[in-house]
Amino acid sequence: MTILPSHLSSLSRLSRTLAGKAYQNARYFILVDENTYNHCLARLVSKVVPLQEAEFMEVPIGEECKDIAIATQLWETLLESGADRDSVLVNLGGGCVSDLGGFVASGYKRGIRYINIPTTLIGMIDAAIGGKTALNLDGYKNQIGFFNAPDIVCIEPTFLDTLPDKELFSGTFEMLKTFMIGDPEQYHHLCDMLLGGNLEIQPDMIARCAEIKDAVVKKDPKDKGIRHILNLGHTFGHGIEAHSHQIGNPFTHGEAVGVGMICALYLSVRKLGLPQAILDNYRNVASKMVELPHYSLKETEEILTYMRQDKKNADGEIRCVLLQELGAPVIDLAVDENEIRDALLKIS
Ligand SMILES: NC(=O)c1ccc[n+]([C@@H]2O[C@H](COP(=O)([O-])OP(=O)(O)OC[C@H]3O[C@@H](n4cnc5c(N)ncnc54)[C@H](O)[C@@H]3O)[C@@H](O)[C@H]2O)c1
Ligand SMILES: [Zn+2]
Repeated sequence: MTILPSHLSSLSRLSRTLAGKAYQNARYFILVDENTYNHCLARLVSKVVPLQEAEFMEVPIGEECKDIAIATQLWETLLESGADRDSVLVNLGGGCVSDLGGFVASGYKRGIRYINIPTTLIGMIDAAIGGKTALNLDGYKNQIGFFNAPDIVCIEPTFLDTLPDKELFSGTFEMLKTFMIGDPEQYHHLCDMLLGGNLEIQPDMIARCAEIKDAVVKKDPKDKGIRHILNLGHTFGHGIEAHSHQIGNPFTHGEAVGVGMICALYLSVRKLGLPQAILDNYRNVASKMVELPHYSLKETEEILTYMRQDKKNADGEIRCVLLQELGAPVIDLAVDENEIRDALLKIS
């Protein structure tokens, strides 16, 4: 997999790569949703000459597209259009488009090449990288999928110009997570920016985040061990996210993970001796980006019910990633349910 670095010439570099020998017989199909059709497709095609003849396929926005019925429709379209094994699927969108597109490419004629061109911050620093493809099943997220890496990830930060602030914040929480585990200096820099009210995410920060994710994935492509560090905040976050949907006041994924990281840091202080100042500072940063919830005892039980279903659990225990220090995560730590209740009650 090649990650084309995030500077402003990423699209022209992609254009040159696709004009090369490795792609000489390729026919291109571009997958978009309504927003990326409106905001990103024309720009992509105008800058990447080999894509000018591409056919495009549009899918519903958001999680709704990560469905086997949609995947089947796309396979049928590819077949009717005569797509062969040299065809290449270009996923232009956020994590939903790349999860679906990666799945469809992996299954079509036992696998055709695909390229991710992420257009959300979550896509650029996380979802487009690492070769996890996924569909949802019966309302449960990411239950079906393959590990299969894209041929190219092309990161073009200027696609973020049209992204709504809420989506930008969602990605910024994942960015804080990545720097917390992988680059303490950048973490402090991003915190200072956010505390100062500056939301201008710089291309080099996106590139650094993508590089950290890529390095972790290369060490553990099948997610059997060290890759779990990327799940910091996610055991709590998934419970908090599911509960927020249940009560009809949904957090974005990144917001829920951002709140979940407060819980993970709270337990890290108690169980691993993480300095309290790191928790206090992070809580302060998070409170500038999302309204921190005050959960009742009843709500903590509801969140716990979701957390018990988390796929990282083993032997009936809930397992979390915690931090010994910034840059020093510890994976698969068993936490008991009273510790979880306590952490959920101490968010704000
Ligand atoms: N495979 C992985 O490793 C991995 C990692 C993290 C997340 N994910 C998945 O990614 C998904 C979340 O990703 P996401 O937040 O990017 O979601 P998304 O794809 O739904 O995009 C969020 C919203 O932004 C819109 N949008 C996208 N680009 C835009 C642009 N440039 N301008 C304006 N609007 C734009 C989309 O239409 C959508 O409404 C989840 O399904 C999650 O499971 C996968
Ligand atoms: Zn996440």
